[in-house]
Amino acid sequence: MTSPLRLDTRAQLAAARATAADPVAVVMTMGALHEGHDALLHAARDRAGAGTVIATVFVNPLQFGPGEDFQRYPRTLESDLARCRAAGVDLAFTPAPDEMYPHGEPLVRVDPGPWGTVLEGASRPGHFAGVLTVVYKLLQATRPAVACFGEKDYQQLSLIRAMARDLDLPVEVVSVPTVREPDGLALSSRNRYLSPAQRRAAAGVPATLRAGADAAARGASPEQVLTAATQTLSATPEVKLDYLALTDPDLRPLAEPVGTALAPLAPVPADGVARLLIAAWVGSTRLIDNIEILLPRGDE
Ligand code: PAF
Repeated sequence: MTSPLRLDTRAQLAAARATAADPVAVVMTMGALHEGHDALLHAARDRAGAGTVIATVFVNPLQFGPGEDFQRYPRTLESDLARCRAAGVDLAFTPAPDEMYPHGEPLVRVDPGPWGTVLEGASRPGHFAGVLTVVYKLLQATRPAVACFGEKDYQQLSLIRAMARDLDLPVEVVSVPTVREPDGLALSSRNRYLSPAQRRAAAGVPATLRAGADAAARGASPEQVLTAATQTLSATPEVKLDYLALTDPDLRPLAEPVGTALAPLAPVPADGVARLLIAAWVGSTRLIDNIEILLPRGDE
């Protein structure tokens, strides 16, 4: 197995990209790679075939708010490169902040619009402008045919899709299902902040989502789905809710959310497909997760 070619500068990336075999598939990460990232890298390899897989590893300061975990975010470059190697990555772009933002904080950022101010955007003002700006810049630098993003960050995925559509970006955005621990906890680089006791309590987050999905499978209404989920959450008092929302695929609420505000209620989609999204604190660690919910269709 050969190492991915590590590129620290945009000039190095541009030179490698100029001769890279098409199609190019990219996976953007902030490092601290785990099996969830492996799934993204494998999806990228599947889509690229004999073409080129590029992984980017960059802890993007622009998407962290004051008091968030930018400084302590895990940086594990050597093991990240080993994971990239095992997954067949061809090029690993690992810029420093000065390389990505040579003029300092950008004056112009991608505006995420109304979806950027709800849910995660309400709790983390400016977060999605930071995410979309770096994703846009990395798309410019890598010029991929395909970019793979995880469903775990469902609002981020939705916004990246919307950016590609609304700004005419020539890239196919591919979503990859969330990878979970045996007890259901979604893999996340932030899980390593949890103490053993907090790690056990964190299983309450996916359990809450599953309770909502199970209620929907029994024919529950959107309000009943939220009630069932909230009841399950109350069994784990160590998990402090930030928000719990049931939305349509466009993040429009189907019932009054818990802990956050969303625009007027939307009707249940004709196909019954909805999303249950949660953000919660376990100690000082903020976890997010979501699950597809199949609501009874109007004609059932
Ligand atoms: O999902 C992430 O890891 C980050 O938000 C991303 C997309 C790499 C942008 O920094």
